[in-house]
Amino acid sequence: MEIFNTIIGSSAEGKHYFHRDYLDQRLWQYIEHGNQLLVSAPRRIGKTSFLLNICNQKKEGYNVKYHITESINRENDFFKRLYKSLLEEVSTKQNLWVSISEIVKKNKIAKIGPGAIELKSSDLNYFEEFKRLIHKIDLDETLIFVIDEFSETTENIINDQGGKAGKLFLHQNRELRQDKNINRKIRFIYSGSIGLGNITERIGAIKIINDLTDFQIPPFTENEALEMITQLTVAKELIFDEIEKRYLLNKLHWLMPYYIQIVLDETETLLLRPETILEVKKKTINQAIDESLKRRNYFEHWHTRLRTTFKGKYYTFAKEILNAASKSKTGISKTTIFDLAEKFDLREEYNTIIRSLEYDGYISISKKNIYVFNSPILKIWWERNISI
Ligand SMILES: Nc1ncnc2c1ncn2[C@@H]1O[C@H](COP(=O)(O)OP(=O)(O)OP(=O)(O)O)[C@@H](O)[C@H]1O
Ligand SMILES: [Mg+2]
Repeated sequence: MEIFNTIIGSSAEGKHYFHRDYLDQRLWQYIEHGNQLLVSAPRRIGKTSFLLNICNQKKEGYNVKYHITESINRENDFFKRLYKSLLEEVSTKQNLWVSISEIVKKNKIAKIGPGAIELKSSDLNYFEEFKRLIHKIDLDETLIFVIDEFSETTENIINDQGGKAGKLFLHQNRELRQDKNINRKIRFIYSGSIGLGNITERIGAIKIINDLTDFQIPPFTENEALEMITQLTVAKELIFDEIEKRYLLNKLHWLMPYYIQIVLDETETLLLRPETILEVKKKTINQAIDESLKRRNYFEHWHTRLRTTFKGKYYTFAKEILNAASKSKTGISKTTIFDLAEKFDLREEYNTIIRSLEYDGYISISKKNIYVFNSPILKIWWERNISI
């Protein structure tokens, strides 16, 4: 028997996805006004799910293509992916074949057809080839390339080849966005769990992305969260009153669909035990939260991410801040942070590190000027598993 329609880990689609129409409308408005976007939001908030849902919408005049480029660490591989995707698009349209036949011959393309492009030559400059191809063709719909994990790709390039290569990569992308002949045919929506702003700041390249419009995905409102729980509730005989639903939301505080999903999933496991009645009580919710906290893989990525973002004393400093915030009832003051920065000799850089922790969704500043964990659940997990 299924009690909830939960999904954890992979992107939420179909019956698992809770729609946020006002966000869809806002995104399309931006696109129609000619903007190119940077979708920014912390890890696990639902960026991929949101973007995939956009790709599935039929909007007259637009053709949206989704790409995820997380593992790419070379600029040429990135543009090869775009080039291939564009060729694939062209190959579905007979009228464009003539205009590209010369390119196909020159580049010794072995196979061409939907889902069957084979590029023989690997030593081509795919950035240049991509531009050449786009100049040659006329599309009847604006092509929107959604590039998920773009900031991860940029970070990979910087880590493996240095800041100079990272800047070049960002400049090339900017060139595609700014070329009038290209941007009337193709536009870009970038996304990623790590702040592109923070990455570019680190290599002194913030200006290269200042033409992008920041598109935020906020956490759920209380009403959205309540509706989502109702949508995911499939067992007709289940008793789950609003008071208990609100109790759960109150416990979660930071209304990320991910946390709602993991607690509901644990609740389902508890309710499926023999001789249990199908009723969610406050006790069930407390127990479900406890169970979810035991699952390392639900939270571990918050820690591993910190490990890859920061090295050496930068990592230790960031971790000590989170450790202190996790142990404290009230949070951690700016003075304590400054003292820690002194201890690690990070007076110059500590602000960037704090901004990065804020952007990534670990902490935020309260009205009382105190930094606190956004998620009380993550706070408990951190205290139990990472703090010493
Ligand atoms: N709109 C939604 N409706 C229901 N569940 C959602 C929704 N958005 C996100 N989720 C939940 O959050 C989880 C993570 O979603 P998703 O992979 O889209 O987030 P993300 O921001 O792309 O994560 P990452 O930063 O790891 O790339 C999903 O597995 C699902 O449990
Ligand atoms: Mg994602």
